Parts: sequence; structure tokens; C-alpha cells
Amino acid sequence: MYLLKEEEIKKSLTKINKKKYFEDWFNIVKPILLTKEFQVRRMFSHHKESVWDHSIDVSYKSYVLARAFRCSTYKASIGGLLHDFYPHCWRYSKKLEQYDSSYLDGLYDKKKFFKKHGFVHAKEASINYLKYFKEYEDEIVTDCIEKHMFPLNIRLPKYKESWIVTISDKIDSILDIPIILFYLIKKG
Ligand SMILES: [Fe+2]
Ligand SMILES: [Fe+2]
Repeated sequence: MYLLKEEEIKKSLTKINKKKYFEDWFNIVKPILLTKEFQVRRMFSHHKESVWDHSIDVSYKSYVLARAFRCSTYKASIGGLLHDFYPHCWRYSKKLEQYDSSYLDGLYDKKKFFKKHGFVHAKEASINYLKYFKEYEDEIVTDCIEKHMFPLNIRLPKYKESWIVTISDKIDSILDIPIILFYLIKKG
């Protein structure tokens, strides 16, 4: 996998790179965006885009909302970026299989309803972020990641930042709800 450099990432983010707070937000998330483990998410499918694209959108939205609601833009941006940082893909990706098939582990396993991706990936992501980005360990960031699937996961977000991440995720995913339901029921 070709590792994108800072300027290449900035250039590719055409939806947001002209926006007012882009530089400030980018400086917060840059160290994570430059890592190999996060860039692998460019090959993780997420509905109509990649986990990379989706996580960046949610992170930037979370930053903007955190400014508006006067809470931590730093924690909301990091929580937003890592909210879907689960270890294994849930949609097949040929590129990912060719790169490292271990990312596809468990993809075809039969799972009980409450063990399907929609129910378990928030918890998985909250464990996985500590494996790769331990330096960002923080109660609020963990809460943002672990609770972002509220109300599907019934535990209430505890902090303003966690509410912001779960709302940003829903805004970003609203058009994908029929697809999410299909995969939840059929695929897991
Ligand atoms: Fe998610
Ligand atoms: Fe998400």
C-alpha cells in the first residue's frame, strides 16, 4: 500500500480542505492520518465510501460541532476519527484481501443477531484504538467510540463530545440506513 503524505492527504480532502477550520482540525488528526494502520482504512468498505472517508467526515463534523457547543474540539475530532476503527472489515474488499487477508478474518462467520457488526463494532473499535493509538487514551475519547452506535447500543453517551460524535455519525450515515439494515439482517 502506498502511504499518502501530508500534502497528498490535504489535497485529496476536497469536501473540506477549503473550509474555515480545516487547518486547525487537520493539525489535531494529522499524526493518526499519517500512520499505516489508519491508512489501511482506505481499503475498508463503508457503504458507498471507505472507512477512511467516512471517519474523516465524522471527525471534521465533530470538530465543528464541538466548537459550537464549547467542548473539546481535540477529543471530539479524535473520537470522531477513531469511532469506526474496528479491526476487521465487515464488507469484502479485494484490495484489502490482496494487501493482508487477516483484515478479513471472521468475515464469513455465521453470527448470532446481537453479535453482528452493527452491535459489536463500537466496542471492538474502542479496544483496537488502544492497541494502535495508546497515546490518545482518554475516558472521553473512549466514550465517543464505545457509545457512537446509540441507540442501537443502548448505553447513553456520557459526555458532550460523545453525543457530538454519535450525531455526526448519524448525519453522515443517514442516507445509508436502508443499506445498514440490509447488512444487519442479512450479513452481520
Ligand atoms: Fe460505527
Ligand atoms: Fe460510523
